[in-house]
Amino acid sequence: MRSRKNHTRRQSDPQATRTGASRRRFSRREFLHLSGLGALGTLAAASLGWTPVSLAMRGAEGSTPDVEIALEAVVDQDAILPGATTTVWRYRATLLKGPADTVQPLPDTYLGPILNLRTGQNVRITFTNRLPNNEETIVHWHGLHVPEAADGHPRYVIAPDESYVYDFTVRDRPGTYWYHPHPHGRTGPQAYYGLAGLILVSDPNQRAAQGLPTGQYDLPLVLQGRRFDAQNQLVYSAEMAGFLGDRILVNGRPDVTRTVERTSYRLRLLNGSNSRIYKLAWSDNTPLTVIGTDGGLLDQTVQRPYVTLGPAERVELLVDFSQWPAGTTLTLRSLAFSTTGGGNGSLPNGAEFPVMNFAISESAGPTPTPTPAPTAPPTQNQHVFLPLVSKSGAQAQAARVQADRTFSLYMQAGQWTINGRAFEMEAVAPDEVVELNATEVWEFINQRPGGGGMQGGQPHPMHIHGLQFRVLSRQAPTNATQRANWETVKDGYVDEGWKDTVLLMPGEGIQLQLQFQDYTGLYLYHCHNLEHEDMGMMRNYRVVPPTAG
Ligand code: C2O
Ligand code: CU
Ligand code: CU
Repeated sequence: MRSRKNHTRRQSDPQATRTGASRRRFSRREFLHLSGLGALGTLAAASLGWTPVSLAMRGAEGSTPDVEIALEAVVDQDAILPGATTTVWRYRATLLKGPADTVQPLPDTYLGPILNLRTGQNVRITFTNRLPNNEETIVHWHGLHVPEAADGHPRYVIAPDESYVYDFTVRDRPGTYWYHPHPHGRTGPQAYYGLAGLILVSDPNQRAAQGLPTGQYDLPLVLQGRRFDAQNQLVYSAEMAGFLGDRILVNGRPDVTRTVERTSYRLRLLNGSNSRIYKLAWSDNTPLTVIGTDGGLLDQTVQRPYVTLGPAERVELLVDFSQWPAGTTLTLRSLAFSTTGGGNGSLPNGAEFPVMNFAISESAGPTPTPTPAPTAPPTQNQHVFLPLVSKSGAQAQAARVQADRTFSLYMQAGQWTINGRAFEMEAVAPDEVVELNATEVWEFINQRPGGGGMQGGQPHPMHIHGLQFRVLSRQAPTNATQRANWETVKDGYVDEGWKDTVLLMPGEGIQLQLQFQDYTGLYLYHCHNLEHEDMGMMRNYRVVPPTAG
């Protein structure tokens, strides 16, 4: 039976594991073994006439799914610029089971549909790779707390026309998450050609969300940088500093002007760029009101003069457009800042540019934000739902919290590393093993150990899979030039909430509190500058069962 899939490498063959370390593929059948079903299960499946996929579906968390989605990565054409269409790669989804709004297509974009998930749902997603030219891929649900087999580790890549079945329960806080490819070495180009989409997790019982704008007043905004050639085709190169592009797209379109009413909006911003950092501010210097971060709503609303948003980070803003007269055009800008590793081209990291415009019109109706709240109906025009706390610089000045593990980010032998190590498909070093249920403090330091006072370096947006963490403290760079650069972005950090990605400027240090819950197995932590990631600035950590006693 095995021989029918002759390209399949057997997982039990350690030689295959080693030789295939960087470009492994798992077939459906091999996934059966990963699911713990084994040869007996395959045999039973064959004799009953089931396909291996339907049997594999019984693995993972094991409950009957409430939601079933068929997801594909396909090649398509999109009219991004005037004139010729652009060849893009994109996610397409079909809802097979579940609430009708689960798959919500975004109009006029190459971005994948929004996946609207609810806390507690058992979700099954069957992903099929329809990319050309033997392009292997796998999907990762960025920010979600899922079993290892559903996390999209690069060792689970599938070849074109193969499928992978994800089973997981939504255990996440309501918030703004996203999905994107995660093959080793090809995440940058695949995401760049268009493979990305949002996941909005909601919980109908969440009290904090009651009174927040919903429906057309809840705007997801994905910020991405692209470069086009004269034929309107996407240009990409894996630059050492990270690929930037010179056109800023919002939800896949350039030069966006969105008409909004004079009422409150919830803006969910995702930095979906490969490596660009945004320093977001209103054109008239009105402070930004922040209500959420990567892992959902904050305990308290905070204000910032601007928000610094590194690759993969999310921030949610509450904007009351009634504070401006009708007819106003307000611009969301990215302000200038100073950094090394700025990349090249006409729009380097740290350049100032407009992100998008909001054209403010009169309100269409008196009750613009109906919220389905069975127990406590919200009052109308409830603009501020939590006490407003004004802080700046976040915990930037807090004392350094003692760390359990330290990870230094630096260049070694021409390669970006974490503690001097680059990615190896299945390798886990002794200091990358953690115990289930443990609470730890992890520290990232954006410089070579003992290299304090050194100049140079690059920003690194560090991301940890499988969980959301809290930021305990940060340290400013000690080098004067690095410190001066850091001063131009630090008031825009939002460290108050749950995070899965944090930006570290050159010379900066940060301490995070993490807890490893529910799942053992192999998870990733890495720089989310996708070019750094592809070049190996990524490592595994393994969650093991707690030692007795
Ligand atoms: Cu957004 Cu490892 O990924
Ligand atoms: Cu992730
Ligand atoms: Cu990096």
